Amino acid sequence: MINPYLPYQAKIIKCQKETEDVKLFHLKFTDSARQKRFHFWNGQFVQVGIPGKGEAPINICSQSKDSTKYFELAIREVGQLTKAFHQLKAGDYVYVRGPFGNGWPKMKNLPKKNLLLVGGGCGFIPLKSTAEELSKGYGKKYQVQILYGTSDESQLLFKKQYKAWQKAGIELDLIFDKKRPQHKTVQGAKCGFGLITKLFKTIKIVKDATAFICGPPIMFNFVVKELKKLRFGDEDIYLSLERRMTCGIGICQHCAIGDKYVCKDGPVFRYDQVNNLEL
Ligand SMILES: Cc1cc2nc3c(=O)[nH]c(=O)nc-3n(C[C@H](O)[C@H](O)[C@H](O)COP(=O)(O)OP(=O)(O)OC[C@H]3O[C@@H](n4cnc5c(N)ncnc54)[C@H](O)[C@@H]3O)c2cc1C
Ligand code: FES
Repeated sequence: MINPYLPYQAKIIKCQKETEDVKLFHLKFTDSARQKRFHFWNGQFVQVGIPGKGEAPINICSQSKDSTKYFELAIREVGQLTKAFHQLKAGDYVYVRGPFGNGWPKMKNLPKKNLLLVGGGCGFIPLKSTAEELSKGYGKKYQVQILYGTSDESQLLFKKQYKAWQKAGIELDLIFDKKRPQHKTVQGAKCGFGLITKLFKTIKIVKDATAFICGPPIMFNFVVKELKKLRFGDEDIYLSLERRMTCGIGICQHCAIGDKYVCKDGPVFRYDQVNNLEL
């Protein structure tokens, strides 16, 4: 059995700059047996540490089908640990516990099969593995739409994937709230200017769908309001929440909101489970 308190050493195989402050790390456990037993689902996270610098929860953003071979983390530099992370290079080591949390619901378990993904800023990171998974044929069978907002074009993550997603039948709409787009499209995806909620007024939003949302807390309320106008029920809306974490496994209470632990009961919650809590 894998001890959830025990960090396992992982090697950085490659790392690349995604934006000015986000780097994408491709990692493998040093112990190949540990890697073979590493199974995660989209939307789950790991606790990643560097000795002397600390440990932080980070979403896994590669596809779950590759989990026993490698995993990827996209990390934004904000403070002590993430700054140290950005100074690492291929061949360096970090320490990883997990995977933890529940992740996004599986499509086969959802009553509404069309899907709307709404991501704001770095909140797009936990949606990436879902977008990739859905681009393997799902977008041809059901309607899938992604709304993704950042401050400007330079902040867009995972740009190299956009064409493949659209080719697979996924509609991708981008919007920037600080700097007007210089072109009408980025990698084939239409882009506009304004807050992400503006898209609900300017484009056709997929109907009869389940919505997955992740972004800054302020975004949740406004996006949920728009979804309600389109008759999405509370049970059709899922949110991925972020809280400061320590243990990652429901022991220390650092991540509690009301009677829920974000690390163990979440980070993904169906809206009716949290709509009475202070998000
Ligand atoms: C479930 C989960 C998944 C996450 N996934 C990712 C991911 O995929 N990529 C990524 O870049 N980041 C992710 N984060 C956020 C990441 O954990 C924090 O940015 C990290 O802990 C910062 O550590 P630090 O030592 O560099 O910064 P600190 O020195 O600890 O803090 C720097 C600044 O960031 C703020 N901050 C730190 N942690 C959080 C937090 N959790 N929520 C809000 N503000 C915070 C602090 O208040 C401070 O202002 C995730 C967080 C959670 C809870
Ligand atoms: S991080 Fe310890 S209970 Fe959630």
